[in-house]
Amino acid sequence: MESKKSDKGVEEIGVDNLDQKTGTGSFHFNLDVLQKMRDEARKGGGLKQIKGQHIRGKLTARERIALLLDEGSFEEFDMLKTGRGGHLGSGQEYLSDGVVTGHGTIDGREVFVSSQDFTIIGGSLGEAHSEKISKVMDHAVRTGAPYIGINDSGGARIQEGVDALAAYGEIFNRNVRASGVIPQISCIMGPCAGGAVYSPSMTDFTFMVEHSSYMFVTGPQVVKTVIHQDINAEELGGAGIHSRKSGVAHFVLPNDILCLREVRRLINYLPSNNRHKPPFLDLRDPPDRTDPTLDYLVPADPNQPYDMKVLIRSILDGAEFLEVHEAFARNLIVGFGRLGGQTIGLIANQPAVLAGVLDSDASVKGARFVRFCDNFNIPLICLVDVPGFMPGPEQEHGGIIRHGAKLLFAFIEATVPRITVVVRKAYGGAYLVMNAKHIGADINYAWPTAEIAVLGPRGAAEIIYRREIQGSDDPDRTLVEKESEYRRTFLNPFLAAKRGYIDDVVFPSETRSRLIRGLQVLEGKEAEKPRKKHGNIPL
Ligand code: HXC
Repeated sequence: MESKKSDKGVEEIGVDNLDQKTGTGSFHFNLDVLQKMRDEARKGGGLKQIKGQHIRGKLTARERIALLLDEGSFEEFDMLKTGRGGHLGSGQEYLSDGVVTGHGTIDGREVFVSSQDFTIIGGSLGEAHSEKISKVMDHAVRTGAPYIGINDSGGARIQEGVDALAAYGEIFNRNVRASGVIPQISCIMGPCAGGAVYSPSMTDFTFMVEHSSYMFVTGPQVVKTVIHQDINAEELGGAGIHSRKSGVAHFVLPNDILCLREVRRLINYLPSNNRHKPPFLDLRDPPDRTDPTLDYLVPADPNQPYDMKVLIRSILDGAEFLEVHEAFARNLIVGFGRLGGQTIGLIANQPAVLAGVLDSDASVKGARFVRFCDNFNIPLICLVDVPGFMPGPEQEHGGIIRHGAKLLFAFIEATVPRITVVVRKAYGGAYLVMNAKHIGADINYAWPTAEIAVLGPRGAAEIIYRREIQGSDDPDRTLVEKESEYRRTFLNPFLAAKRGYIDDVVFPSETRSRLIRGLQVLEGKEAEKPRKKHGNIPL
């Protein structure tokens, strides 16, 4: 069969050659036709296009599915479906119409998948293409299985005009309806431009591949025309930009193979739908394992940073942590791990980056993660070392009030089990926002090194001892003295523990076992919510 299909590819294979009088063909003839059609569909846009795909370092739609799913588990739908050819009358009909769809398993659990085939009309999306994606999304919601969309497309199929735009609308609708019902994951493995970017952005997690994927609402050419700026696709919307700066990409991997492997890893932490619990996996890590080195993790100097990831790896089963948004807003760490075999969502300040301060990006990153975990019955563990919200006009004018409110809102709305450990600083509003008892956390622990207070020592001393400092012969010395007085009085966990805001002050070495016991006791947690259509999160 020719690599570039003729406009009447299907007839050529022989369907029209069936017995026209009886409407039937011989059984063996039909087997032959089916085999030929399948072979034809599997060639996509032809060998030349497949080679082009490989030269760009990209895999084909089918190769990607084969890597994503358990070997031999893929069941394809609509392989024989074709498009209508479009208003421009090119008459081109391709089996599969530029997207491969169906279902299969990841470590034995069903998922639905679509994988755009760039070798067929640039993977562009028209009516039939969209119907295929919609079909698997509908199945995913009905059967309660995750949906994974692999994107590699020139966008709306120009020849199909407004029908192609309508076709995108069908997918957008389904993204929103499925949101919070099944996990939705997008892999960007080629171009993704114009309004097409909005489907991945409405899914739960977006993966990108370095140097072969990009996402933007308007491409470099439009940027040049409208704002007269020269910028290439990589700088405008490549994986680096979206993972570090915009936060559009949650995961970035160097190539298709590693990307698909990472999707499998993510799926293993997640339940199939919002009615199920996440899968239990025993990593043979004793729940009562202690780590004496944690007793020395927090430096004696309160202004000295340390790496929160040391604590994270120490407490999680097998030290396994799947970090989400690793390169974006690094002052807050979010990701998945397991405690006693159970998936948990972890949110932690990172004192090693910007002293762990909360800024707008970190707040949005945290809020979205908290909401995902709450949607999918994943308990939240919060590790706190936060000096406050980032001060200054840049943050204030950028809307830190509304962004910080998102994190606050998300935590308060979350009804999954919520446990907090205050490791060191927990000052002011940031203390509350980071899952304090007062906003509904179930269990709140603190390390003996915790400093729970309204303000840090310098700021507090300057305000409450202003008169003494100003009237002193040596204001600098008086400030230092007052700072240490404040530190002795307020910067500890015991005042909060006396009030019951901290349920227990725990030895750092025992953090893991205390968290696991906490999760066990919260297993049966039930939370009432008032009847309403939905809350109005400060978007
Ligand atoms: C029809 C398309 C197409 C499209 C690509 N092709 N995009 N056909 N509709 N949107 C075809 C090309 O004509 C070509 O066909 C084949 O796919 C491969 O494309 P190339 O251009 O040869 O590949 P490459 O050089 O890698 O460039 C890829 C590309 C470029 C950057 C994606 O094709 C491109 O700029 N396409 C148009 C992108 C675009 O503006 N789309 C509309 C976006 S707006 P042949 O026959 O030559 O092999 C949008 C709105 C969504 O999508 C709205 C949602 C509400």
